[in-house]
Amino acid sequence: MIEKMKEQFEEFKIKIAASVDESEVLNLKGQVMGKDSAISQAMKSMKDISIEEKKVIGPLANQIKQDIFNLIQARLEELEWKKINDKLSKNKMDISYLDSISTNQNRIGSYHPVNIVQDRIEDIFLSMGFEVLDGPHIEDEFHNFEALNIPADHPARDMQDTFWFKEKNGEKRLLRTHTSTIQVRGMMEREAPFRFIAPGKVFRCERTDASHEMVFHQLEGMYVDKNVTVGNLIYFMKTLLSEIFEKAVDVRLRPGFFPFVEPGFELDIKCLICSGKGCSVCKQVGWVELLPCGMVHPNVLKAGGVDPEEYNGFAFGLGLDRLVMMKYGIDDVRHIHGADLRFLEQFINQ
Ligand code: DAH
Repeated sequence: MIEKMKEQFEEFKIKIAASVDESEVLNLKGQVMGKDSAISQAMKSMKDISIEEKKVIGPLANQIKQDIFNLIQARLEELEWKKINDKLSKNKMDISYLDSISTNQNRIGSYHPVNIVQDRIEDIFLSMGFEVLDGPHIEDEFHNFEALNIPADHPARDMQDTFWFKEKNGEKRLLRTHTSTIQVRGMMEREAPFRFIAPGKVFRCERTDASHEMVFHQLEGMYVDKNVTVGNLIYFMKTLLSEIFEKAVDVRLRPGFFPFVEPGFELDIKCLICSGKGCSVCKQVGWVELLPCGMVHPNVLKAGGVDPEEYNGFAFGLGLDRLVMMKYGIDDVRHIHGADLRFLEQFINQ
């Protein structure tokens, strides 16, 4: 009986090593451990044999059983791996394939330069404790004008050529002409003190040229606290610009008029395209208007639910596209919205 068990076990070892799939393994298991197998017979005979025989056959049968289980387990695992490897080798992907054909569908995407710069600015302001807010493109007169100290019939409304929607039920809607609308929404939604920025697209009905687009990007900023000064404003703006350009930039501050700030300023930077010599981007002046800003007008604070007796603050409306043009040496704003892949692909590694 012992011989028979050993013999069947040896046979099993050879067969299982050659087995090709799970069902074959299970079949072999049935043969070597099934009712008619030497092991089962041995187990069955235990009650009839002498103690001496039991002492030999019992442990041996158990050992062989254990070995069979181990072999089955190991072979099943091997077969599983083989299956995975076979699949992988059959479905091999040729990763050099996309390189070898250059059709438009297979071009690799890249971040848009405006997004690259916007992300960077967001990081800088987040690190200075600002929130990043969003707001709707379609606005009403209250958020785009009135709450910003630009009442109806105020000549300042003409400063920005507005795209109007058809009036509906007496309500006038427009495409926001600036991100200052988010100042209003931001103020109303929080308690002073607060600081936030708000990047986004803005829309103006105007002729396009190398430095004007109908759709462009602004990044609004607002800082409201007690005893805020022009010095604070200049500090934040300088920090921002030096981080963005990764070098010292020449700036100048001129008085500027915007109904929502008092005093208002225009912060210009020396044109980085022509180093101040004069080119199409700076309109031959050598300086580029980049950052209108100022101290928030008390009427604006009031409209936003902030007490101007207790709080004051500064605001700015950065022209994102111009900043991008300066940073990357782009000489025509129309490239930015042109969707020309040859232009966009230049930013793959940025
Ligand atoms: N909203 C203005 C515009 O689009 C830009 C601006 C000027 C924003 C001064 C400001 C600011 O926050 O303080 O022309």
